[in-house]
Amino acid sequence: MPARSPILSVMTAAALKAARGLLRDFGEVEQLQVSVKGPGDFVSNADLKAERTLKQELGRARPGYAMLFEEGGATPGTDPRHRWIVDPLDGTTNFLHGIPHFSISIGLERDGEIVAGVVYDPTRDEMFSAEKGAGAYVNDRRLRVSGRRRMDEALIAVGAPRVHSPVHAMHNAALEAMSRATAGTRRFGSAALDLAYVAAGRYDAFWEFGLSPWDIAAGLLLVKEAGGYVTDLSGGYAMMESGNILAANDHLHLPLAAMIKDAVRGAAAA
Ligand code: IPD
Ligand code: CA
Ligand code: CA
Repeated sequence: MPARSPILSVMTAAALKAARGLLRDFGEVEQLQVSVKGPGDFVSNADLKAERTLKQELGRARPGYAMLFEEGGATPGTDPRHRWIVDPLDGTTNFLHGIPHFSISIGLERDGEIVAGVVYDPTRDEMFSAEKGAGAYVNDRRLRVSGRRRMDEALIAVGAPRVHSPVHAMHNAALEAMSRATAGTRRFGSAALDLAYVAAGRYDAFWEFGLSPWDIAAGLLLVKEAGGYVTDLSGGYAMMESGNILAANDHLHLPLAAMIKDAVRGAAAA
């Protein structure tokens, strides 16, 4: 692997430090699971603690950068070009239930474009990282999206909106179409890791409606740098603004986009 750039070193070090706290707290969750009170408040605290650590570490290394954190919202910086976009705990519901599938996601935006991203899975110790033009890695291994061409062999990750969400009917229609056409769908509950797994060729594609910038900032760069395609659901590039995303290998992206579009049109007409 090429030497990690200074900025990726900052990002991975911050993720590792926040992950130590999250892992300690995850150990406690199992105990709280069975208590009457349940782990709810405890998990919100774990989330906030991880956010504080990330803010401190990233802020110390690059003091002028603006920040967009899931819990604390936007903080302006003195540097107008750079912004951190961070989800301190992606996969909160899994964490809350003691399911070891969650991540820390850190994206760095420069002049409105994501130029570096890190998604860290603390329970498997997998550090996914990418820098624009320099490829994507998991730990020291270079990543490449899958080469699968056949839709009926493809495994697709999805994220599901809540029942009352305005995009729920669209989601159901697209999921129905995809379940029929592919080898299967998976809903694992961390959008950042879903994208990292597409970059790693584990899933052939991932799509979800209604995400937030911190869910996808880092992951979308991982997929691009691993040779995949990432668009919004109308084929444009407004993923961060719309929160709608389709990430896939180069063979399956177009047919999947068409399938989602048809299904959504059908749902809207119904
Ligand atoms: C959620 C996860 C989930 C996705 C949701 C997100 P959170 O983030 O990424 O996979 O389906 O839309 O909100 O709440 O665990 O940070
Ligand atoms: Ca999230
Ligand atoms: Ca979160």
